[in-house]
Amino acid sequence: MLQSEKLTSKNAIALEDKYGAHNYHPLPVVLSRGEGVYVWDAEGKKYYDFLSAYSAVNQGHCHPKIVDAMTRQAQTLTLTSRAFYNDQLGKFEKYACDTFGYDKMLPMNTGAEAVETALKICRKWAYEKKGIAANEAHIIVCENNFHGRTTTIISFSNDPVARKNFGPYTKGFIKIEYDNITALEEVLKSNDTIAGFLVEPIQGEAGVFVPSDGYLAKAKELCEKYNVLFIADEVQTGIARTGKMLAVDHEGVKPDMLILGKALSGGAYPVSCVLADDKIMEVIGPGNHGSTFGGNPVAAAVGIAALEVVKEEGLAENAQILGELFRAELNKYISGSSLVKAVRGKGLLNAILVNDSPDSSTAWDICLALRDNGLLAKPTHGNIIRFAPPLVMTREQLLDCVVIIIKTLQQFQK
Ligand SMILES: Cc1ncc(COP(=O)(O)O)c(C=O)c1O
Repeated sequence: MLQSEKLTSKNAIALEDKYGAHNYHPLPVVLSRGEGVYVWDAEGKKYYDFLSAYSAVNQGHCHPKIVDAMTRQAQTLTLTSRAFYNDQLGKFEKYACDTFGYDKMLPMNTGAEAVETALKICRKWAYEKKGIAANEAHIIVCENNFHGRTTTIISFSNDPVARKNFGPYTKGFIKIEYDNITALEEVLKSNDTIAGFLVEPIQGEAGVFVPSDGYLAKAKELCEKYNVLFIADEVQTGIARTGKMLAVDHEGVKPDMLILGKALSGGAYPVSCVLADDKIMEVIGPGNHGSTFGGNPVAAAVGIAALEVVKEEGLAENAQILGELFRAELNKYISGSSLVKAVRGKGLLNAILVNDSPDSSTAWDICLALRDNGLLAKPTHGNIIRFAPPLVMTREQLLDCVVIIIKTLQQFQK
């Protein structure tokens, strides 16, 4: 079979089913092309993408500037490993440090790798700077977190599907309720082995759970008081998704460590990183951490282009305006509907709560009907549907999508 051979949707699904591990449960649609806010299936049917590869494609599918940067670099130099310098990485590091206000970047590839990186830096900082006794450091995490799928990360997940039969688990994590500042202070004041607090500014995978106003600012203040690193996982919320460059910007918080991934490349290539100031990042020396592909020249060229697009095209402002419009339009529908309990979110990271049991198939069936009506979204945690279109969407396109969503929901209204 040639890579160029054209498959029908049915054949493509059959191949994945037979030869791929069944570690995902995709909506039955086979995509073969994308441009801006649209994707097309193998038979040529056009859809609005309302997931953006879990907020990776913020800049829209196949953004010409990002594709151009990637293509030019791919034809010039793709990989050197970090055994040698390359002439792109330093430029990317400087651009990201200037953009987000940090001294140093440590580049990786996937979100989970960047989270692992932050955890390692945090532990090393705890022993070498804070003076916690060897192997005693703890990192506080939140219930219902999602930070990726590695052995350590699932060790502090409370999703039974992600955890079951993957033990023994990594020690050194203390889990507290999300959005509960008292719970955070309780642990901080009663335990002097705390190195860091790892938090998602909005819990995306948990169903777009937005914490109370002021939660992040108060949490940061407490971390400062107890000399604990505030680590923001902005893999899903970062890069303009929530209406600001970072979700923590809504509360004027500067994390001690910032974790980015996904839209750091506009979804064109796996690019992730951790950003921190020298007083933290200096604990890392040669051999402590790394990755063959992390910081490769293609990733670096793509990363700069992806961030430039976000700024040049005002994507944060667009996400802010369109997000308000989206929630206002859906709230009009919800006020007269018993099918949907609520819409919640920030910027263009939103979700609706379907008024049915998490074990029911209603949200899945709604997503199948949305697909048939030309819009792709995916349920999370049973009865929640996440809505996260590319941020290059126009007002007209968004209103068109609102019509599709409401028309589809009405099909399910009893
Ligand atoms: C907040 C957060 N952190 C980390 C990750 C893991 O990223 P990756 O899938 O690139 O490993 C995700 C993925 O959805 C995420 O939402």
